[in-house]
Amino acid sequence: MTSTSLDVERIRKDFPVLSRELPGGRPLVYLDSGNSSQKPTQVIETMREHLAMHYSNVGRAMHVLGSESTEAYESARDKLAAFVGAPSRDEVIFTKNASEALNLVAYSFGNRANTDPRFTLGPGDEIVISEMEHHSNIVPWQMLVQRTGATLKWFGVTDEGRLDLSGLPELVTERTKIVSIAHQSNVLGTVNPVAEVLARAREVGALVMLDASQSVPHHPVNVAELDVDFVAFTGHKMVGPSGIGVLWGRGELLEAMPPFLGGGEMIEAVWMDHSTYAPVPHKFEAGTPPIVEAIGLGAAVDYLTGIGMDAVEAHERELTAYALDALREVPSLHLIGPDSLDLRGGTLSFTLAGIHPHDVGQILDDRFGIAVRVGHHCARPLHLRFGIPATTRASFYLYNTTAEIDALVRGLHHVQKVFA
Ligand SMILES: Cc1ncc(COP(=O)(O)O)c(C=O)c1O
Repeated sequence: MTSTSLDVERIRKDFPVLSRELPGGRPLVYLDSGNSSQKPTQVIETMREHLAMHYSNVGRAMHVLGSESTEAYESARDKLAAFVGAPSRDEVIFTKNASEALNLVAYSFGNRANTDPRFTLGPGDEIVISEMEHHSNIVPWQMLVQRTGATLKWFGVTDEGRLDLSGLPELVTERTKIVSIAHQSNVLGTVNPVAEVLARAREVGALVMLDASQSVPHHPVNVAELDVDFVAFTGHKMVGPSGIGVLWGRGELLEAMPPFLGGGEMIEAVWMDHSTYAPVPHKFEAGTPPIVEAIGLGAAVDYLTGIGMDAVEAHERELTAYALDALREVPSLHLIGPDSLDLRGGTLSFTLAGIHPHDVGQILDDRFGIAVRVGHHCARPLHLRFGIPATTRASFYLYNTTAEIDALVRGLHHVQKVFA
């Protein structure tokens, strides 16, 4: 079966690494984009060209290169704002990754520099997350409740790998200050029902943050339509470089929040005993930012927009349907997460009875050049919930093909023979 939604063969030519041979002449089968995606020539060349011909610091250099660099950096912000439907470009803050964006928001709570009642936090107040979160959306909140004496609560996960909303009214209450959940799980592939959670949060006056690290690269995402308060995502999973992430936040909330890191370029004026701060977004971008990385992410957004996020989503849906069928044929394979296409993305995690995922990953790599991720995928509590230490995860992107899924299935049959 070949995909009908995208010209995948043409797309694959944009990604130099996909035509690489691995040692021993094996072709590369890259099924680890949920971890980090590959980069097209358009992104690589934009970054190279900027470094070679335009590079300078941004926002402060009074010369041609300074203005070219500033212009390219700020135009990347425009592109990101348009890509996620941000009402204002100033609501897009460049961070170093999604983890930093999540930490930035967590830091705003219970901070004496922030007197806005929506952000005050102490004993009796609650933060709600879920059991399917990546560690990046768990640990910052654990650190926050340790600092403030507030309480951390979480949604459970059903056996099918869905957010358990059965206790929603008891979990999200007048005591809740913020609900922070994944838009799409990096292990289960589950896409969470944001509207339902948001409706309850609005009833009780709580803020809502989405960790969209696994949704923005794969689906059309519009922050204004989602109507949440904060969205975090990361460049390296969306054909962009590492070292750059994004926090989108509602303008009036960002105004109310204190800066996260102090340093150059985030200030308005500095005295020896106090400072005043630059307007949003610069208030949150202390020091020399990841200039070339932001520009590279702008090129990534151009690339994805050129293909169309509807087409990317449709292609991955076809791959996921194909993979769900194909994996069902592998004996003693147990999928962790929804086994229907309903509200799920192209991330499939599974176990093979009696075989450790590390052995699965090693044989797939050594013998067939198939790159998957093995382990707990930075979601240890979720694995504990399912009573397993680790899974093997195949994750798809716009450049993957059904032939690669066939190769995975053949590889898994081989792994089973080795351990028979
Ligand atoms: C759902 C989710 N959240 C957060 C992150 C963290 O992204 P980063 O390491 O770029 O901060 C990841 C990365 O794997 C992820 O999958």
